[in-house]
Amino acid sequence: MGDRDVRGRLAIALDVDSAQAALDLAKNLTPHFGVAKVGYELYAAAGPQIVGQLRDLEMSVFLDLKLHDIPTTVGKGARVLGRIGISYLNFHASGGEAMLRAGVDGLSAGADEAGHPAPVPLAVTVLTSDPPDMTRLRSLSVMAREAGCAGVVCAATDISDVRAVFPAAVTMVPGIRMAESGRDDQVRVATPSEALAAGADVIVVGRSVTAADDPSAAAAALVASLSGLG
Ligand code: C5P
Repeated sequence: MGDRDVRGRLAIALDVDSAQAALDLAKNLTPHFGVAKVGYELYAAAGPQIVGQLRDLEMSVFLDLKLHDIPTTVGKGARVLGRIGISYLNFHASGGEAMLRAGVDGLSAGADEAGHPAPVPLAVTVLTSDPPDMTRLRSLSVMAREAGCAGVVCAATDISDVRAVFPAAVTMVPGIRMAESGRDDQVRVATPSEALAAGADVIVVGRSVTAADDPSAAAAALVASLSGLG
């Protein structure tokens, strides 16, 4: 895998509470990570303008807001979020098929209105901090497919079960740990190369890089650990 191909498959979780802290990390990490994951902590602190600021650093943005509400509210919220130029947005699959469909439709309508490429709508299945539940994983993956989601957020160990029922799913995979690092609150973890070898389209890396003494060096080591992959 060439470095450019790898970069678009690596998302850095900017789980910090200010725009300045996020942009400082992003400036250091953009050579290695093509995707910036913005959760509600950073989004609440920095506002929607953080999306354009990260795009200026050549990163596409995964807005990890895990929307879950009545379908109308999710659809209207997703529409406004679609206008700001994000590449990925997620919804809790447990919100049901009608809610997911409203989110998918709202997101693409908003992007279209603002002249942005269609973002990738993702359904959150079973959190990587929860124990495995394959029956639930499969039924939520079927629902995501039926609702028009492009893919799912799942653990590396879930990918084959997801693809058994949703073959074309884009898989966004958190719960990534370098071999030598601790698990924190994650239960189902994989190393970066294990997750990519298992078929992850994008891996989400957080504390193993952002909490390192030298995040740039940790990112470089992560990329080096992938050099044996196809
Ligand atoms: O620091 P760590 O690598 O555990 O960060 C994982 C990131 O991925 C966090 O921002 C967390 O909110 C997110 N996430 C997750 N499991 C999911 C969906 C998102 O851990 N199913």
